[in-house]
Amino acid sequence: MLKIVLLGAPGSGKGTQSEKLVAEFGVPQISTGDLLRSAVANQTELGQKAKAAMDAGELVSDDIVVGMIRERLKQDDTENGFILDGFPRSLDQAKALDGLLDDMNRPLQGVVHIKVDNEEIVQRLMARGRSDDNEETIRNRLKVYQEQTQPLVKFYEDKGLLTAVAGVGEIDEIYARIKAALPAGAAFAGD
Ligand code: AP5
Repeated sequence: MLKIVLLGAPGSGKGTQSEKLVAEFGVPQISTGDLLRSAVANQTELGQKAKAAMDAGELVSDDIVVGMIRERLKQDDTENGFILDGFPRSLDQAKALDGLLDDMNRPLQGVVHIKVDNEEIVQRLMARGRSDDNEETIRNRLKVYQEQTQPLVKFYEDKGLLTAVAGVGEIDEIYARIKAALPAGAAFAGD
């Protein structure tokens, strides 16, 4: 069982580290960014609504992303837990998540905050080159993170759920730090 949020700025390595957790713990990664990109690629109505905000590095509206998460958490593969990557991203989203998980009687076990400084992030994302990885959009994503997502650090600290890890260095080293930061109730696939 693993029910966690990976919190961190754009480019902090949430997706990279989620893949390793998925392989080891056997629970799905739920990334609102991936779900939104797939909606944009499939030209769904939701994707068309989200595209302009994503291109500008702004947040997509809460009703869209909370609705996506509500539907995703109902799927059977989340029975043994989930890794939330890129959600929640605002206090309103975090409160909505609490409500959803309360209704399902599946409280969060913990939140791992992956910390990386902004200049390292800009370098990583410029090297990656996704469509929203141009310098102007990256800097706006970082500003939006600071203003709207950073307050979640205190929100989850106050609930006693947050552990911070340094997100720089080798990917495997960071993964070892994340595993050491996992909540006591985390269990490996098959346990
Ligand atoms: P989203 O897809 O969530 O993007 P993001 O938060 O900007 O995160 P990234 O995918 O860029 O970074 P990451 O932390 O996963 O790092 P990664 O492992 O990829 O969101 C995109 C957009 O969708 C948002 O701007 C917004 O518009 C919208 N959106 C999404 N969720 C939303 C929500 N909840 N509410 C509203 N709007 C929402 O690594 C990055 C790069 O670094 C990779 O190239 C990787 O290979 C490299 N790397 C990773 N680790 C290391 C390392 N240790 N050393 C060197 N390089 C590394």
